[in-house]
Amino acid sequence: MGKYALEGVRILDMTHVQAGPTAAQLLAWLGADVVKFEPPGTGDITRVQLCHEKDKDGKWIDSLYFTMLNSNKRSITVNMKSKSGCEAFEALIKKSDVVMENFGPGVLDRFGYPYEKLAELNPGLIYATLKGFGATGPYSNFKAYEPIAQAMSGSMSTTGFPEGPPMITGSQVGDTGTGLHLCIGICAALYQRTHNGGKGQIVEVAMTDGVMNLCRVKYRDHGRLMGGKGELSEYSRPTLGMTYVPRAGLDSGGGQLGNCIPCKPFGANDYCYMVLQEAIFPQLCEMIGGEALKNDPRFLKIGDRRKNQNELWKIIADFAKDYTKFELTKLFNDKDFPCGPVMTTEDNSKDPHVAHRKMWVEVKDEVRGNYWTVGMPVKLSDGLVPEITRAPLLGEHTEDILKNVCGFSDEKIKAMTEDGGFSVPERRKK
Ligand SMILES: CC(C)(COP(=O)(O)OP(=O)(O)OC[C@H]1O[C@@H](n2cnc3c(N)ncnc32)[C@H](O)[C@@H]1OP(=O)(O)O)[C@@H](O)C(=O)NCCC(=O)NCCS
Repeated sequence: MGKYALEGVRILDMTHVQAGPTAAQLLAWLGADVVKFEPPGTGDITRVQLCHEKDKDGKWIDSLYFTMLNSNKRSITVNMKSKSGCEAFEALIKKSDVVMENFGPGVLDRFGYPYEKLAELNPGLIYATLKGFGATGPYSNFKAYEPIAQAMSGSMSTTGFPEGPPMITGSQVGDTGTGLHLCIGICAALYQRTHNGGKGQIVEVAMTDGVMNLCRVKYRDHGRLMGGKGELSEYSRPTLGMTYVPRAGLDSGGGQLGNCIPCKPFGANDYCYMVLQEAIFPQLCEMIGGEALKNDPRFLKIGDRRKNQNELWKIIADFAKDYTKFELTKLFNDKDFPCGPVMTTEDNSKDPHVAHRKMWVEVKDEVRGNYWTVGMPVKLSDGLVPEITRAPLLGEHTEDILKNVCGFSDEKIKAMTEDGGFSVPERRKK
């Protein structure tokens, strides 16, 4: 057994953009040897999207979009639209435990590699596939990006304020969220392979399925509406008669009331979010309004507080107006009231707790220059790679992998190169 959780597992990572690469990156951080398999030329398109820095020769440096999603991997470039490219691919398939892809519908089939063919080449192979809508069903031929997944899963219609348009969340629930689902499936399939005679299988996830899963509590509320007969009494606006779950603004969405409280100096992000746990209500009253508030008939029972929650939040906001979001957080947390400041990206990049959790870390990159990235959110007491290392340059490890993983000789690689195995592929005319 290896030192790291997934040591000894080789992942052939054909994923691109965000959904697949983040999943493969997590597997790399768990110790797998992740070989990023890219088309020669531009490679993963995100290398050249949203670039913001040039090197000393005036050439754009790989974007943070790419480098923040592809650390601890190796990169090989192979032209799958050539015979030699397919030969290299087949050699890698035979030496891999998992192949991952999030191409548009049908790409792998067009390369000539449906699952059956892959399983023939390597019966132990786990084929992990992520699509917008899955392999089957009326929408399976559609491409998808994050906002489309949010739109079609119910997330967008339930995010924002009822009087405003549907909103996209800042969290990438469609891409990174679905990638997490893919990771779970891969780890489960790797485990199953230890007791099913070493047989591989297909792990399939769809972005809309993943986001629906993440919207589970909104579908809980859909059930409680009972087609217009039920009511969501915890919402701050009337819901009786509604047949779909409305946007809830800043309501907590749980059994306990919650909301954002404005704090001084009242800038765009000077807010604290407070969850008003039932148990803390008497203590909160003592702190902000004494006996009068405790005995106020508008707030006596949970049902009253739900009904009159907008007035209650105004009273809390009036108390909070003399504090900054950090002062209020301390004051409330000292009393064990659940409350947190709305943190900006800048706040978090300087926050001691974030630094302590290694969630904002500097990556050494001797080629592109050091950069900062979001760290590994899953902590294992034993089994993680010791540090986040830079994302590979395009094709940086092609020769090494062809020789040392595929076992090809120099002469063989030369012949494959002449055959177009590693040259820029042509795009299909649509
Ligand atoms: C993200 C997405 C919309 C991008 O669409 P796209 O840019 O048209 O890319 P596709 O995946 O459809 O196609 C990739 C192309 O690169 C080619 N390609 C990829 N790797 C290659 C290689 N090593 N050698 C040769 N060609 C390669 C493919 O053949 C295909 O070209 P073709 O259509 O000419 O055959 C699409 O991949 C998709 O819907 N993926 C599933 C959902 C998803 O993951 N979305 C979230 C992205 S964060």
